Amino acid sequence: MSENRFYTLPDLPYGYNALAPYMSEAQLRLHHDKHHAAYVNGANAIFERLDRARTEGTDVDIKSALKELSFQAGGHILHRLFWMNLAPAGKAGKEPGGVLADGLKKEFGSFERFKKEFSAAATSAEGSGWAALARCGLTGRLLIMQIEKHNVNVYPHLRIIMVLDVWEHAYYLDYKNERPKFVEAFWNIVNWDEVNTRLEALMK
Ligand SMILES: [Fe+2]
Repeated sequence: MSENRFYTLPDLPYGYNALAPYMSEAQLRLHHDKHHAAYVNGANAIFERLDRARTEGTDVDIKSALKELSFQAGGHILHRLFWMNLAPAGKAGKEPGGVLADGLKKEFGSFERFKKEFSAAATSAEGSGWAALARCGLTGRLLIMQIEKHNVNVYPHLRIIMVLDVWEHAYYLDYKNERPKFVEAFWNIVNWDEVNTRLEALMK
């Protein structure tokens, strides 16, 4: 864990052109360098505001600050996960292996059924949001979440292992308004090893 008390924008674990043609360099640059960066800066500004108020002993609008922090921090954390669970198509692999493959088969019956449900969650998210695959800490079940904005419909006890960003800023340059085409493209650039590793860590 970092001792830094503020968020930092992580470098991508691959080149900006590495996800083409499924995600273009221009789209990825805009998404990472501008949109993700804005959530990092937004969250840090609130942390600074809270720190300053505490140091100076001044009042702060706690309700407003915490609501905004939930959104900005959610944006940062989900984007951070998103970049890590993507990989260039040549390295991505077509299907998951390991405990992830076993878990998906157990929960959904087949990988194809999981893909269908996850894609439906992604394409039908109202407005701006995410589809996420998560593990329930109470039952060990793998559950699909449909997150609105960055922080609505998030269950407290679910640990997220894979996300797909379906905000328009994630795909508009490449796919215009055709979100289903972006969702279909996503399946070519999933880093299944990373998702599997994340699940393994939760099962220990
Ligand atoms: Fe995004």
